[in-house]
Order: sequence, then C-alpha cells, then structure tokens
Amino acid sequence: MLIHVDRESRTPLYLQIKNQIRDMIFSGVLSPGFRLPPERKLAETLNVNRSTVLNAYHELKADRLIESRVGCGTVVLEPHSAARGQNAPFACPEPIHWRQFFSVTSSRQQNPLLQDLMQLLHRREDVISFSLGIPAVELYPISVFQDIQSEILKKHGQATLSFLPTEGYYPLRESISRFMRKSGAAVSPEEILVLSGSQQGIDLAARTLIDPGDVILAEEPSFFCAVQVFRSAGARVIGVPIDENGMRTDLLESFLARYKPKFIYTIPNFQNPSGTVMSPERRRQMLNLAYSYRTPILEDDAYGELRYEGQPVTSLKALDQHGYVIYLSTFSKTLSPGVRIGWLAAARPVIRQIVMAKQLNDIHTNSLAQFVLDGFLRRGLFEQHLQMIRQEYVKRRNMMMDALQKSMLPGVCWNVPEGGLYLWCRLPERIDKSTVLLMRAIDQGVTFVPGEAFYLEEQGCNHIRLNFALQPKGVIEEGVKRLVKALRETLVSTESLEKEIKAQTNPLF
Ligand SMILES: Cc1ncc(COP(=O)(O)O)c(C=O)c1O
Repeated sequence: MLIHVDRESRTPLYLQIKNQIRDMIFSGVLSPGFRLPPERKLAETLNVNRSTVLNAYHELKADRLIESRVGCGTVVLEPHSAARGQNAPFACPEPIHWRQFFSVTSSRQQNPLLQDLMQLLHRREDVISFSLGIPAVELYPISVFQDIQSEILKKHGQATLSFLPTEGYYPLRESISRFMRKSGAAVSPEEILVLSGSQQGIDLAARTLIDPGDVILAEEPSFFCAVQVFRSAGARVIGVPIDENGMRTDLLESFLARYKPKFIYTIPNFQNPSGTVMSPERRRQMLNLAYSYRTPILEDDAYGELRYEGQPVTSLKALDQHGYVIYLSTFSKTLSPGVRIGWLAAARPVIRQIVMAKQLNDIHTNSLAQFVLDGFLRRGLFEQHLQMIRQEYVKRRNMMMDALQKSMLPGVCWNVPEGGLYLWCRLPERIDKSTVLLMRAIDQGVTFVPGEAFYLEEQGCNHIRLNFALQPKGVIEEGVKRLVKALRETLVSTESLEKEIKAQTNPLF
C-alpha cells in the first residue's frame, strides 16, 4: 500500500492519508477484506504521528469504508455498501471537507481574534467592551433619523427604494463635497464615490491598485483590517515606524527607494491604534516624497472629525495639488457603524476605475440610507451631532484616564489623544502576551484589543487598545476596575513564575 505525504501541502496530513486510502478502495486497488497496517506501523512508515493515522482511520470508519474487527485488525469494506445507506433513497456521498475548497486568498483573510471578540460580546451581555471600534450607541441620532426617513419616504417615494448609480446618490455626493470643502479640500461631487463603509473603499482600492507581489507601506502599528485586505490582494505590507508625530517621514525615503511600493497607506488623524496625529511638516514631507517617487497615497481619515482639543491639521488630500491622494472617510465613527456609509475622494480616472470594481461588488450603496443621510447633512444636523459627541467623548476620555491613574498600576502608561476613540496603553514589559491578559480580562467581564493585532511582525504584545468613547460614565469606571484586576492577577502570576524560574535556575552548589 503506497501512500505519499506532502508536508508542503495545505491539506492536513491525516486528510492526505485518508483520501489516498479512500481512492485505493474505490479504484479496487484495496479490495474488501484487505487488512490495513496497524496505526503505529503506518505512522512509522510515513514518519507521522500516530494520532495522524488514527484520525485518518477514524474518518474512513465514519464513511464506512473500513472497520475494526476483533482479531483481524482494520479491514476494508465493500465500497458500495459503505457508500450507500441500506434504506437511503440516494447514494450517500462522501462527506465534504470544505477546508480543501477554500481559496488561498480566503485563508489569508482569517482574523479569529476579532471574530471571537465580536461573538463573545453578542453572547455575554455582562461583558464591558472597550474593544469595538465604534461610537457610543446611546448617542446614535435615532429620533432625528426616524423623522427624516418618514419625510424622505413621503417626498421621494419609490426612488428611495430603487437602484442608484454606482457612484452614489448625486445630492449626497454634493453634500459630502461641500463638507470636505469646509476643511480645505476642493473636491467636486464627481470626484466622490459613496461607499458601503470605508472598509469597502480599502478593499476596492486594493482590488484596483494591487498586483500580487506589490509592496504597500503602512504605519507600524496599523489598522489590521486594512493590512489583511492588502495581504489578501497578494501584497507584502511593510511597516514604517511611527512616533508621536505620526509616520517617521525621515525614514520614509529609504523605504520608498528600497521597496518601490505601489502606494502608501496612512491614517494621519488619531491613528488606529496609536491615536497619533501626523504633524503638518510630515504631511508636506510625505507628499513631496510621494511626488518624487511617483507613489500614490491612500489617506484613511476615519477619525478626523473627532477632534476634542488642539488645532485641526489640513488633510493630505487638501494639501495635494497633483491628484496623488486617494482619500477615504466614513460616518461609522461619528454617526453609527450600521448606517454603513463612507466615501472615497480621488481624481476622476481613479473614481472611474474603482466604480467598476464597486459595480461587481455591490452595485451601489443602500439607496434609502443615502437619501436619509443626505437629509441629515443638508439640515446642518451633522455639525450639531459632531459638537455633541465631541463634548461627550472628551469627558469619557478623561474619565478613563482618571480611572487608570487612580488604579496606580506601576509600569502602565498611555497616550493622551487629542481626538479619536482610543487610548493606546503600554503595559509592563513582563506582560509579553496581551492575549493572555485578554483571557483573564474576559473572565473578569471586560474586553480590549490586544496590541499584537496591530503589528506586522511579532511585536506590541505589551500594548492594549481601549475604546474610551463607547461606554458611559459608571461603566467606564467599572470596566477599568475589572481590567486592573485582570492586570494585577497577570502581573502576580508572571512574578511568581519568574520567581519559580529563578529558583529552578539557581546554581545547586
Ligand atoms: C482606520 C479605519 N479605517 C476604516 C475603518 C472601517 O470603517 P467602516 O467600514 O465602518 O467605515 C475603520 C474601522 O475600524 C478604521 O479604524
């Protein structure tokens, strides 16, 4: 019985063994009654674990292709009777192993940590989330949306539930264009594409610009969902270090010269996760470098409107005079994530190309949501809403910082962001895996996003990202209390572990 195992293959070893034995049974190479080698022997022959062969045999037994007989070992069964249930009206097919069918690209998209966190929050209402990247739910403008929606449905009738051009509802593109002009970006409605959230913009930009093997430069740390999109499009993502003024443009030139990237991805305002803002000088330097090296910039401005202190900094899009910047923003962080509307602003040839990708993706963004949002913007309600949430979020930021300060945890420090949603906390070096801390935190009933999620390489393990805006006053304090408890427990356990290791490594003589 000749079996070959390929250790480079994405198919697990046990499945390779199972499939080859199955094929030999169906092709008649192994006839009914044939005795398969004992598990241990086959494992030795193939140089695999015994459990691998056990799993393969287990699956073959479940498919009724083999069975164990006392005194005979494991024997092959008649494939027809095995493949067909006695009373079953249809042939009983092979159980399908979906993992074998998933594309290489889709396997690159997995983010189990994020999925687990989302599921956990749906399952356990007692858990306080500092992890989700969304605004405060109790501040969503529900009643205003209700009023606008019924007015819009009456006024525009069927149009609100009909198809729209892929580019978006033209009046909404006008409203967004007016909004952008206020902060200095002279973008016409034709240069705006309405998106189903800015994540879609990241994906469409990747599909439109990236060829397999391209390099993308991004801040390190950076927004992991963007990094994953670039990787699944076949790009290599290279991290450029940041400091308190955003991406280190003093290092950027050497990265541009060395890697010749397809584009630079940057979150210049209240960066996710670090909360840093790229200084005006660095923005100019980045643009000049982009011009010199003919490299486009994907500017992701998800958080720009959430400024609580200090002066706004002009966007790269507004500074750019030569059409190098593709700008992305969203209403997810200001209004609500469920409205699922974002936008992309770029030169017309870019819009035309990306529109083709969007057409294949979702034809257009939800019509009713676009009508209602346009009504909200035209009535000047968005500005009012922004003022209200800015006042509230700065209070929540201060509350969270106070609560952390009061806990007096040695070795824990954090940034003081002038805006955005996140505190980026550094924990003592001894916490070398914040995912371990997360498990303890979940036991205590609180969540955060572990720092390592944002790094391209194995780094950032002693960082955590906390959303300070999501929870109201009392809940912030309770959440921090739970977090501090989990942190103390982790510190104590690492300390006792260190002592144990030291005791064990003490010289005996
Ligand atoms: C930097 C950044 N860009 C884009 C997004 C995606 O936002 P949405 O698709 O909800 O507009 C997020 C969400 O967390 C983000 O942090």
